Amino acid sequence: MLEIKNITKKFGALTAVNNLSFNVRKGDVFGIAGPNGAGKSTLYNLITGLYPFEGSIRFNGQELRGMPPHRIAKLGIARTFQIPQTFPSLTVEAGVGIGNCFGSQDGFDSSYVDQILKFVNLDRKRNQKTGQLNLLDKKMLMIGAALATKPKILMLDEPMAGSNSREIISLMDLIKRINQDMGIAIIIIEHFMKVLTELTRKLLIIQTGTEICCGDPVEVTNNPKVIECYLGSTKDGEKDSENATGEHRNSESHAGKNAAEKNLAGLNNAGGKP
Ligand SMILES: Nc1ncnc2c1ncn2[C@@H]1O[C@H](COP(=O)(O)OP(=O)(O)OP(=O)(O)O)[C@@H](O)[C@H]1O
Ligand SMILES: [Mg+2]
Repeated sequence: MLEIKNITKKFGALTAVNNLSFNVRKGDVFGIAGPNGAGKSTLYNLITGLYPFEGSIRFNGQELRGMPPHRIAKLGIARTFQIPQTFPSLTVEAGVGIGNCFGSQDGFDSSYVDQILKFVNLDRKRNQKTGQLNLLDKKMLMIGAALATKPKILMLDEPMAGSNSREIISLMDLIKRINQDMGIAIIIIEHFMKVLTELTRKLLIIQTGTEICCGDPVEVTNNPKVIECYLGSTKDGEKDSENATGEHRNSESHAGKNAAEKNLAGLNNAGGKP
């Protein structure tokens, strides 16, 4: 369905994405992880038409390179952002409705918007202003607006960031339902390895824009090259294991992690061990 071949993106002297290739098939859940600044969000920006790049991205056989974002959305590729973005003065219903107007090929469909509001559990809050929503509901709204475009692929950028363990469980349940009940393929960027090993069928690890390895999520998270890429080669255990849990240096969306989330996140927990 999505074929990414030898894509490279340079910002001046910095190569943010370096000759990456991978495929996402219909119905897949495909994971992407890597340290801060690895190029994960840039990759989404390339797939959704925000920047020019070298290489090729084909979606159901059609080349996306050079295509504007609104056309890519209408073909069936939707995304969410690392930091939830809403129009604060609009209602929840309007926020989801905008997604339907912008991305759907079939024109505005209010009954579909209703369906999505129920699916993301925002039906009862449909008349609230989006600016009043808590973080979990803002994320649900952002996912709802993306689903309202009737996508074939939904790309999630760190959906668990800043969430507590209860919220992580809700979001994981939603992602499974989107994939299984709606038949939408998922690409998920995430730092929580436990989430990736539970949700995904294939996992790509990148560092400084370059593939470190790609394959079965449990095997990938046990790969020594991946462990080194997260932990570094120093023996400074406490500091380094903070990195392995995906602590961020520079993103306000990661401020709210607690100990339970760190347990969920640990590389050593990959594969379902307690
Ligand atoms: N528009 C831009 N102009 C210049 N440099 C950029 C731009 N966007 C991203 N970069 C740089 O490209 C590199 C990759 O950034 P990107 O945001 O893709 O990383 P990331 O893997 O998503 O990191 P994080 O886990 O912190 O979200 C970083 O060094 C970043 O500073
Ligand atoms: Mg990012």
